[in-house]
Amino acid sequence: MKIKKAVIPAAGLGTRMLPATKTIPKEMLPLLDKPVIQYIIEEAVDAGIEDILIITNRAKSAMDDYFDYHPELEERLARDGKTKELEAVRRTADMANIFYVRQKETKGLGHAIWRAKDFVGDDAFAILLGDDIMRAEVPVMKQLIDAAEKYHACCVGTQAVADDAVGRYSSLKVSPLEERIYKVTDMNEKPTPAEKFSNYAILGRYVLTSSIFPILENTPPGKGGEIQLTDGLRQLCRTEPFVAKVFEGRRYDTGNLCGFLEATLDFALDFPETGDFLREYIQSKRV
Ligand code: G1P
Repeated sequence: MKIKKAVIPAAGLGTRMLPATKTIPKEMLPLLDKPVIQYIIEEAVDAGIEDILIITNRAKSAMDDYFDYHPELEERLARDGKTKELEAVRRTADMANIFYVRQKETKGLGHAIWRAKDFVGDDAFAILLGDDIMRAEVPVMKQLIDAAEKYHACCVGTQAVADDAVGRYSSLKVSPLEERIYKVTDMNEKPTPAEKFSNYAILGRYVLTSSIFPILENTPPGKGGEIQLTDGLRQLCRTEPFVAKVFEGRRYDTGNLCGFLEATLDFALDFPETGDFLREYIQSKRV
């Protein structure tokens, strides 16, 4: 099981970040000096991924432009001797082989992933949700790939979330295999307190086999009237080995204002050009 392909669904409407996301895709909002989606692509590349399919929609062409060359800008930077900036700009276009497909209709995460069918073919593949940014010593995607390879299994990234948060995510029915790895036998999307299996929620990272596609093709709309990936996985875990990795690291939901702010502050505190400045600035506010 060698995982070289990843899918990043980024076709959502960004309704939690309006009006900014009316014309700027939420994945293109800058977190310090880079757009959110670049962190996700860097995590994938650090985990050994080579080919990445971004599922977009008609309002997201700024993403295609970002991962392309920009000859005019590059010539100017070269002429001005701005080597560091030139490298940063070139790198965005050279990090991975990036492909795009449009979702065309907003019908849910399961439907968006189904659009990756031809790109994936018969290979096992990774999914990284476009809103979920991770901060971890070992890339979270790498942690999942290691678990998937060890157990020859599909794998979802999980952490235990607070009781009142499970209903915003999904809930896994699990039994322990080893430290931080569980066998998954059932799951549900956005459960009520009575429906939840455990506080382990799927958090933005998946390693799946292509068996998910025929399942998604026949998955009816579920919670919120959308075709839910979790509903498809619920069937998949009954027929294929399926594990959950309790990943080490911190997840940020950059699709809402507070999550975006948490990520911005935490990343800025670690960032060489802003760390000391931000610490001093915060101190100066404590009067
Ligand atoms: C999606 C998934 C859900 C998962 C969550 C966090 O929900 O459907 O299973 O727990 O992402 O990764 P959404 O945030 O799109 O409502």
